[in-house]
Amino acid sequence: MATISRAVILAAGLGTRLLPATKAVPKEMLPVVDRPLIQYAVDECLAAGISEIVFVVAEGKEAIRDYYTAGGRTETMLRAGGNESAADALAGLAQAARFEWVLQDQPLGIAHAVNCARALVEGEPFALLFPDDLLIANVPVIGQLARAYDQQPGSVVAVQPVAREEIPQYGIVDPAEPGGNPARLKGIVEKPAAADAPSNLGVVGRYILAPTIFHHIDRIEPGKNGELQITDAFASQIRAGETVSSFRYEGKRYDTGRPLGLILASVGAALAREDLAGQLRQRLTAMLSEGEQP
Ligand code: G1P
Repeated sequence: MATISRAVILAAGLGTRLLPATKAVPKEMLPVVDRPLIQYAVDECLAAGISEIVFVVAEGKEAIRDYYTAGGRTETMLRAGGNESAADALAGLAQAARFEWVLQDQPLGIAHAVNCARALVEGEPFALLFPDDLLIANVPVIGQLARAYDQQPGSVVAVQPVAREEIPQYGIVDPAEPGGNPARLKGIVEKPAAADAPSNLGVVGRYILAPTIFHHIDRIEPGKNGELQITDAFASQIRAGETVSSFRYEGKRYDTGRPLGLILASVGAALAREDLAGQLRQRLTAMLSEGEQP
């Protein structure tokens, strides 16, 4: 049995970098190829054997809940039209896991959002995913982290090398044994200036949280940007002598919270699909060569 059976998916952010689209559509529902962004995070969990998923949402995110609820107009119309297999495929989205919903009523930070799911996940290690980090990999990245947890129990954060000028956008880890993978950490800091960063390894939105995390969330103060940062809860675990590790996953990451990242995610996800890759490659090559007309 998988050690990690529960996940929290954070879907409460405003999506300000994708306005005006996100005025009406939650950023998690923007399409990447033919499915909403959030489905990639959910499918990643399912592929890793995670069967209980808690969404932390804010007001205005009803579309996400509708998507993961069986029934609804499209399904009914498909069934009425005799298209049972398409109707079943839609119904299957909601039946693929046990989904729960909690509301974060104020944007007080990631640790606060995780704490909103506390009653549903406390007492066991659990996964945490940010759907705007889209990860395409042969082995689901959250499953890679779950394996790292089995190897070295304690909180685990996914990391990738980041460019120096991008360091202030990330949590940055300070590995005690830089060669190891997982690598035990001696520190972690939220969005440092490049000159103060302990390494160039930035945290990506995939984590395994050890059950003690709530004890530490209770103790941290508002940090960077006045928000309760999950990074600070990890730092508190490290100070208490608990194991916190970083893990360099295998896979490609797209930051879909920005227009360019969202475009690249669509291209990357389509190139990973057999039904689209060949044609897309041809069309992109043509577009990029001189003479292609819109
Ligand atoms: C959050 C975390 C940060 C992490 C990043 C990954 O920042 O606070 O530590 O590196 O996600 O996407 P945000 O992107 O929400 O500002």
